[in-house]
Amino acid sequence: MIRSVIRGSGSALPGKAVSNEELSQRVDTTDEWIVERTGIRQRYIADDGETTSSLATQAAQRALEAAGMDGKDVDLIVLATATPDQTFPATATQVQHNLGCNGGIAFDVAAVCSGFLYALGTADSMLRTGMAKRALVIGAETFSRILDWEDRTTCVLFGDGAGAMVLEAQEVAEDGPKDGPGVLSTKLHADGKHNELLYVDGGPSTTGTVGKLRMKGREVFRHAVVNLSDVLKETLAASGHAAADIDWVVPHQANARILDATARKLGLPAEKVIVTVDQHANTSAASVPLAFDVGIRDGRIKKGDLVMFEAMGGGFTWGASLVRM
Ligand code: COA
Repeated sequence: MIRSVIRGSGSALPGKAVSNEELSQRVDTTDEWIVERTGIRQRYIADDGETTSSLATQAAQRALEAAGMDGKDVDLIVLATATPDQTFPATATQVQHNLGCNGGIAFDVAAVCSGFLYALGTADSMLRTGMAKRALVIGAETFSRILDWEDRTTCVLFGDGAGAMVLEAQEVAEDGPKDGPGVLSTKLHADGKHNELLYVDGGPSTTGTVGKLRMKGREVFRHAVVNLSDVLKETLAASGHAAADIDWVVPHQANARILDATARKLGLPAEKVIVTVDQHANTSAASVPLAFDVGIRDGRIKKGDLVMFEAMGGGFTWGASLVRM
């Protein structure tokens, strides 16, 4: 039997941080409103030269470095993004070129804020079936490019960034312990009937434009808490663990209140949740691997820990993955 083990992680942020105070000079909002309703204090916004592929490449290089590998060691890149450099080719192929991977498989997945979970689930399946040996799983976004900067109900919520993980296929004995380093269970879901609650009002086959993000935040919030607590329970049940076994929850960073509500529903103390929404805001597919890398580099997440990743986003799509470090 094969299990996908995390060998390293990395992340990257644009050079420029933008505070709530600075935003309040652009749209009718206040630092107080944003902090109280979302927990966000600042976000990073990409400059002209910073793109989804450049942030993804930087994050991937750091993940490879942490794993003691280089581009040539990787034969699979799965990159989650809703803000690709170009409509095609896949941004993953640009990253593959930048890293000097010399071939292998590279493609993007589109599941918006759940994109990283979808990418992780896809890469894990491909490693376990022997299609590849070492994978880079990346979440990278430049959401600032699809925000309507006149719409205060959305533009204050998002930021840009990238996070990456190196996964390696490792043989484990068929009759060995059910628990051990690697991805233990992943559950993914989608329900397409809620398109009008969170979407971009453009695209190549409809308007021929890139479009801007539109969201009915209150309704999204309601669905998020229910869907996330359901998928967390489902993911735990699949691996035979209890919520109390979890050392760290690394959630999608949309809103501090969603993080609190989800932890409460699981009966987990807030101290077990890695929170970066205050610093990064919602970076869509990048938010889970970015938060994970923060937890790894500040020493909170350690070898042997049981880590739960979870996310919910446009589609709706949602999912969770339980990993032993
Ligand atoms: N600054 C000041 N006031 C604002 C504002 C802003 N940036 N944005 C909205 N408001 C106002 C609204 O106009 C509304 O005013 P009204 O009562 O006079 O109409 C009031 O604040 C409350 O708006 P509402 O949307 O009900 O607030 P909320 O408590 O639901 O918080 C969100 C809004 C977006 C922060 C919250 O709903 C949320 O986080 N939703 C989930 C979003 C999410 O997770 N999305 C990504 C999934 S991947």
